Formats: sequence, structure tokens, C-alpha cells
Amino acid sequence: MAAPLALAPDTTAQVVAWRRHLHAHPELSFHEDETSAFVEATLTALGGLTVTRPTPTSVVARLVTGRPGPVLALRADMDALPITEETGLPFASTAPGVMHACGHDGHTAVLLGAVRELVARREALVGEVRFLFQHAEETLPGGAQEMVDRGAMDGVTRVLGAHLWADLPLGQVGVPVGAVTAAPDTFWITIRGKGGHAANPHQTVDPIAIGAQVVTGLQQVVARTVDPLDSAVVSVTQFHAGTTNNVIPETAELNGTVRTFDPAVRARVVAQMERIARGIAEAHGATAAFTYEEGYRPIVNDPAVSAQVQALVAEACGAGALVPMRPVMVGEDFSAFLQRAPGTFVFIGAARAIDGAVHPHHHPKFDVDERAFETGVRLFVAAALRFNGR
Ligand code: NI
Repeated sequence: MAAPLALAPDTTAQVVAWRRHLHAHPELSFHEDETSAFVEATLTALGGLTVTRPTPTSVVARLVTGRPGPVLALRADMDALPITEETGLPFASTAPGVMHACGHDGHTAVLLGAVRELVARREALVGEVRFLFQHAEETLPGGAQEMVDRGAMDGVTRVLGAHLWADLPLGQVGVPVGAVTAAPDTFWITIRGKGGHAANPHQTVDPIAIGAQVVTGLQQVVARTVDPLDSAVVSVTQFHAGTTNNVIPETAELNGTVRTFDPAVRARVVAQMERIARGIAEAHGATAAFTYEEGYRPIVNDPAVSAQVQALVAEACGAGALVPMRPVMVGEDFSAFLQRAPGTFVFIGAARAIDGAVHPHHHPKFDVDERAFETGVRLFVAAALRFNGR
């Protein structure tokens, strides 16, 4: 494949049109009814595919060549977020309070574009290329595991996914090796003291003052119990207590997130957090109830597949497109697919400014640069020709 990959002349414009339709009609996790119907109808119109619905709002399309060979799975997520869009784009969300603020509209359109290109190249392929249109990436327990449980990964030999990424400039592609995303866990701490009159604090056990010390104490966990060469985040993101100015409440509720790559680091962090919460509460005559919920597994990119995809980037996306990339502390349930087959998760530079600034993922003014879609289509098509070429 020495010559640069030639896409059909109207594929990129078609992908942009699909994306704008999806962007205007975002749906929340597990509620992708119109989105999945649109994807299914588009796939059916493209023809030559076996299309199934493993769950009510996910879609799988199989391009079965009839020739023996490996099974390559390509994945896109389709869900949106509970955010009120403020981009001012002409194709902005028409669903109140719901927005494609992570680029999953682009992922879905890009994968549809790859399907279109690969259906036209069927005679150049062996084995099977399977397209996974996944629901519910943004909300635990996540759609990926559900699709795996319904057989979407059965027989798959390699799996690839991609995320349009605002932290990378347009034209750049990152293919990290090893741990790529973190385990996004959630914790809750309830400090139970003794309520009473705010004028008589000596008759109470004040859960607010104790909770404040717990928040401060938790800052020590990463700083003093995690190896400086390992990575972890402990963020307290909610603190709820009290109802008025002259009442010391009975309880304070803390909630937040923990991010780690390594299960051993996670275990140390959790144990220390619980010790700090219980210890500080006990020191003041209160109690602390500690609840912890593990999120998605970290994505760990397979070294061999990642090296092959890194080599493809220059071919498919141009010399100089491949840039070094460090892991990110966000969570991604693509990891569920990687439990069943080796693969890699790629980041495609798509930063686009709105009102003079590039806004982060999950921001009301987040946007992706539509010129990045061609990179995504090219990468998926090149990967299929490489791994399943005749
Ligand atoms: Ni995302």
C-alpha cells in the first residue's frame, strides 16, 4: 500500500452531514433510540452487511467476505451528555439539556464513513470486518460490557477504537502503548455527628468541621502513599451538609472520584482513604461510612497491535501525523472489548475553538474540527486493508 489511500470523493462530505444530523439530535446513555435507528437504517442502505441489535440501542454490522481470515472489530460510541449546548453552531442540539459534548457524534459518523469505504473494497478483504456501534459509554455500567456479554466480540481477533481529541491539534494522531486511560472510580463518605444549636457547639459533634478535615486529609493520600513514579488522582467533588445558619446538622455527605492505572496503586489508595475518613471522624467522636464503586477497567493498548497501527498512521494520515502521547486520567469502557481481543485505542487531534478558546471535552462550548473526520476514516480503512487485506 505505497500509494496514498484514495477515498471516494464524496465520503468526507457525507461523514460531515451524518455528524451534523447526529449532533442536532443527541441522546443520553442507554436512550440512543433514534441514533441507533439512524445508524441501522444507514447501514442497511449501504448494503452487503449483516446488521444486528445486540441490545436495544446498540448496532453491530458484519462485513463477511466469505474468505477465511481474521476478524477485525472497529468501534464507535454513540451517546451524548446531560449538558446544555452553548456553541451557537447552526446544527446545535435540538434536545433541551442534552449535547454531544465529547465528540461521539463524530465517532459514529466516522465509523459509518469507514463502513461505506470498506463495503466498496469488499473484494480486497478477507475474513470479517465487524463494526461496533456502542451505546452508553458515558454512564456506568457502560454499554461495552453489555455488547461483549451479548456476543459482539465472539471470534474477534483484533479490536480498534478512536477518540476525537481536543487536547491534540488537528492533523496529529496519538497511539499510546500500555495503559492509556484510568480506572474512573467513585467514592462516598457520610460523616455522622450530632446535630444541635449552632450557638452551643459543645453540645454537638459537628460533621461539617470534621468533613472539612477529611477533605484536607484526603489530599495526603496521593502525596504521601503513592509512589511518585506512579499516578493517581483523588478529587472530592461534592460536599453537602446543613440547611440553615443556626443549625449544626447531623451529617455531611462527601462524594468524589479516584483515578488510577494500576490495581495495586488503587488498593493502597482506597485503604488509606478509608483509614483517614474513619480515623479523623473517630478522633472527633463521629463516624464515617465509606462506600467505594469501581468504574471501568483501564484501557491497556496491546504493544504489537499498537506498533502496527503506529506504522499505519504515516501511510494513512501523512508523514509527521504520529505524535507521542501520554496516558490520560479519563475513563473509557473500550477496555471491556480489550478483555476479549488485543487491540489499540487511538486519539485523533480535533481541537476547534469556539469564541476564541478550545474548550475541553464535556464543556457546553466543546466542538470538534470536522476536518479530522477524514483522518479517522482513513485510519480505519487502512487498518482493515492491513489486517484483513487479501
Ligand atoms: Ni468520549
